[in-house]
Amino acid sequence: MKNTHTKITSGVIVMALLLVSLVAFSFKKDGANVSDYMAVPDKKKDSIASVKAFQKVYSVLMSPRCMNCHPKGDVPLQGEDSHLHQMMPQRGKDGKGLYAMKCTNCHQPENTPGLHMPPGHKDWHLPPADMKMVFEGKTAHELAKQLVDPKQNGGKDLKKLVEHADDGLVKTGWNPGEGLKKPPLTHAEFKKSWIEWIEKGAYAPAP
Ligand code: HEC
Ligand code: HEC
Repeated sequence: MKNTHTKITSGVIVMALLLVSLVAFSFKKDGANVSDYMAVPDKKKDSIASVKAFQKVYSVLMSPRCMNCHPKGDVPLQGEDSHLHQMMPQRGKDGKGLYAMKCTNCHQPENTPGLHMPPGHKDWHLPPADMKMVFEGKTAHELAKQLVDPKQNGGKDLKKLVEHADDGLVKTGWNPGEGLKKPPLTHAEFKKSWIEWIEKGAYAPAP
């Protein structure tokens, strides 16, 4: 009788231990830490400060000036309400448009003056079809994870990701077409938060 009792007790303990390790494992696998891809020195890591910085970054990424070129579909978005681009230019393989609807036919190296005129940059285009870099519809958790994954961010390592804050197309966000709002932070504030997020470990907010 006593023997059976011990057997049951130890059985329960084994089960409990199994459960605990299972839970711990799943946390580790789907945890908030995205620095798996990024070689951040341990002493610099600070998950709280990193996540806080990312929340600021996220408010910029999801603003129309950025999201309109990072749509989930293959047509860019326009305006403050991010409606589908008039005349439906398509992404195309290289993100530069298809057939007669090449982005740079209308988007000049500089903003074209006037309301509802195309904003400009010499290299105006969407991310390519095989690496869409979608922001639209992504939660902060999902987007943080995507941004640091070289398989989804165009093969960027930590250094390249940091440098991307000064990318030409990123900067167009702060030189919008007439009548369009700028992102919610200045470029300097955005850059500071972007670098802080990455250098403190590139942690993702909880799902
Ligand atoms: C004219 C379209 C356009 C606009 C506007 C634009 N982007 Fe992009 N973005 C792109 C393209 C194209 C790429 C891919 C090329 C590259 O990675 O250099 C890209 C790549 C990125 C990446 C790298 C993606 C990743 O997963 O790491 C980030 C980050 C980014 N953009 C942020 C922004 C921010 C922030 C803004 C607004 C301030 C913005 N973009 C506005 C077209 C745009
Ligand atoms: C036939 C001309 C034309 C073509 C081709 C074209 N665009 Fe546009 N685009 C415009 C015009 C005009 C506007 C301004 C519309 C407005 O403000 O009402 C605009 C606005 C945009 C905006 C919104 C900018 C913002 O900050 O809200 C994005 C993003 C955009 N275009 C991306 C693209 C991309 C990417 C391509 C190629 C795949 C492309 N466009 C092809 C004419 C064009």
